[in-house]
Amino acid sequence: MHGDSVIADAPILQIRNLRLEFHDHGHPEVAVEDLSLTLHRGEILGVVGESGSGKSMTALAIAGLLNRHALDCGGEILFDGVDLLHCGRSTLRHYQGDEISMIFQEPMTSLDPLQRIGMQVEEALRIHHKELSAAERKEAAIRAMGAAGLAEPEQVYGMYPHELSGGMRQRVMIAAATVSRPQILIADEPTTALDVTTQAQIIALLRQINAEDGTAIVFISHDLSLVRQLCHRVIVMRRGVAVEMGTSDEVFLNPRHAYTQSLVDAIPKVVL
Ligand SMILES: Nc1ncnc2c1ncn2[C@@H]1O[C@H](COP(=O)(O)OP(=O)(O)OP(=O)(O)O)[C@@H](O)[C@H]1O
Ligand SMILES: [Mg+2]
Repeated sequence: MHGDSVIADAPILQIRNLRLEFHDHGHPEVAVEDLSLTLHRGEILGVVGESGSGKSMTALAIAGLLNRHALDCGGEILFDGVDLLHCGRSTLRHYQGDEISMIFQEPMTSLDPLQRIGMQVEEALRIHHKELSAAERKEAAIRAMGAAGLAEPEQVYGMYPHELSGGMRQRVMIAAATVSRPQILIADEPTTALDVTTQAQIIALLRQINAEDGTAIVFISHDLSLVRQLCHRVIVMRRGVAVEMGTSDEVFLNPRHAYTQSLVDAIPKVVL
């Protein structure tokens, strides 16, 4: 299923003792507490756990998209020897969308309805690869769109988001997130809004991106059978804390924590 791809040992990202605490509502609210994890080169790491357990906050922290004014942040997120949690804005912008990019659940809200698809897919190149000419950017965008499974990418390039189906929009998001060949792709419930067939296609696409480009993927989902199929390793979160972490086999076949057990019990047995 997923044992055939090789995971190099070198960590690409290391989170140490991450703590994220909101202080904007008068009373502090801890979103993530003492989270440590390692993301290896070329691996797909699943993040599961009940609503409000801190999955998205962790994802945003890795992607450099946290609103730091509303938060007290502790610990460190090391990428390339740089602490993304405490580095300056310009350093963060250097990585964001180029080395580390993110896709979200609902592509309609992340795409600008007034901008043609091509412009949006090219954005990371406009920001991070100023050495490219307009023609080279377009070529790269169309290549990324084709790789993301969009038929006739040249046509789609000139379209607007409302002209596309939900599945196509998610493919556009993936093309935009991968056009600069990031080392890390964070996917926060990327298939939740899609029908089952399209969902399966998007999962196949993520697997392909991982296998062909060696892109490390952080895959957040409530769908444990998808996580089981796709992810090499899994982390289980509850109330901001990682209660369990291990290979997919370890976590799904031999859960140690009662909470993990309850999640696993809810998966149809045919999947395990
Ligand atoms: N702006 C905010 N102000 C205060 N607390 C917040 C804010 N945003 C999120 N939180 C809190 O942070 C915690 C973690 O939220 P997060 O969005 O990471 O959960 P999640 O695991 O992604 O949930 P879901 O599965 O529903 O997407 C929650 O308890 C939430 O109440
Ligand atoms: Mg979330």
